[in-house]
Amino acid sequence: MKIAVLPGDGIGPEIVAQAVKVLKALASDGLKVELEEAPIGGAGYDAAGDPLPDATMKLAQDADAVLLGAVGGWQYDSLPRPMRPEQGLLRIRKGMNVFANLRPALLYPELASASTLKPEVVSGLDIMIVRELTGDIYFGQPRGIQVNDKGEREGVNTMRYCESEIRRIAKVGYEIAMKRGKKLCSVDKANVLETTELWREIVTGMNQDYPEVELSHMYVDNAAMQLVRAPKQFDVMITGNIFGDILSDEASMLTGSIGMLPSASLDANNKGLYEPSHGSAPDIAGKDIANPLATILSVAMMLRYTFNSEEGATRIENAVKKVLAQGYRTADIYTDGTRKASCSEMGAAVVAAL
Ligand code: IPM
Ligand code: MG
Repeated sequence: MKIAVLPGDGIGPEIVAQAVKVLKALASDGLKVELEEAPIGGAGYDAAGDPLPDATMKLAQDADAVLLGAVGGWQYDSLPRPMRPEQGLLRIRKGMNVFANLRPALLYPELASASTLKPEVVSGLDIMIVRELTGDIYFGQPRGIQVNDKGEREGVNTMRYCESEIRRIAKVGYEIAMKRGKKLCSVDKANVLETTELWREIVTGMNQDYPEVELSHMYVDNAAMQLVRAPKQFDVMITGNIFGDILSDEASMLTGSIGMLPSASLDANNKGLYEPSHGSAPDIAGKDIANPLATILSVAMMLRYTFNSEEGATRIENAVKKVLAQGYRTADIYTDGTRKASCSEMGAAVVAAL
């Protein structure tokens, strides 16, 4: 397994270091892994004047899978947009063609009290959000800030999906639903936006290829409300890039902390980019207090989806369950009576549990 390791910015290097410990622990048990590191985001800009240096993109393309930390930091916010860290992330997603972003929101029973929602609302929660990742208003043209004919500046972005893009992400959604509870909820804004009217039409049409899947549709505003009202009604949710960005952050809080949420971004051949769903958290960077579990669980997803090792994935997930049962908690999930752990202590505990 050739894995490109891109720590990025903020807490990225700290959390990726813990995930790398886990990979190395598996390697000492016979798994063959080859790791190579490269800068991305602000680190890419500092090293090579580009948030996605050519060498980093090449490494990612040559690898079987990519493990990424997070990008972004205040010191880069005033750079021209193409030089900002987020562009490195968007370009690597687009460059790798990883259009299917899987963001599971799973509540570990030990963390029910860490959620801001009542335990009975979230206990047993297990949602898979399938977010389209390489289209939509994130990439649509035209875009920019321009002066209009009244001499006033205006900002323009374009929400755009073509049929084939909708079809390929819908297929991923249906296939994941078939492996889970066979319930698929497609989230759109078809009452207002033509882009998503087309989305709804195509997703509906494909239901005939998956007759066992119970398909429903929900407007995004209602979905945002239902996620906090009665989140257990959902099994698999499928949606576009921008709605998925927002809903997956919302869903993460149901599970106690965004620090728990892994993600997999897959291309058509299951080659993948694996990263925690959270950002670079510059306010806590360098303090060894970040939660590395989302990144460690992203490694589990890597084994499952790219390397077809359900056994390896389950082993990591069980190790995470075990450390939670032992009471280890980073600051974001700490509650009275548990054991406060630093980022590196949490990583070490997972390795011990493995
Ligand atoms: C995410 C992040 C990114 C996104 C940012 C950092 C560009 O919020 O992965 O959800 O909007 O996709
Ligand atoms: Mg986001």
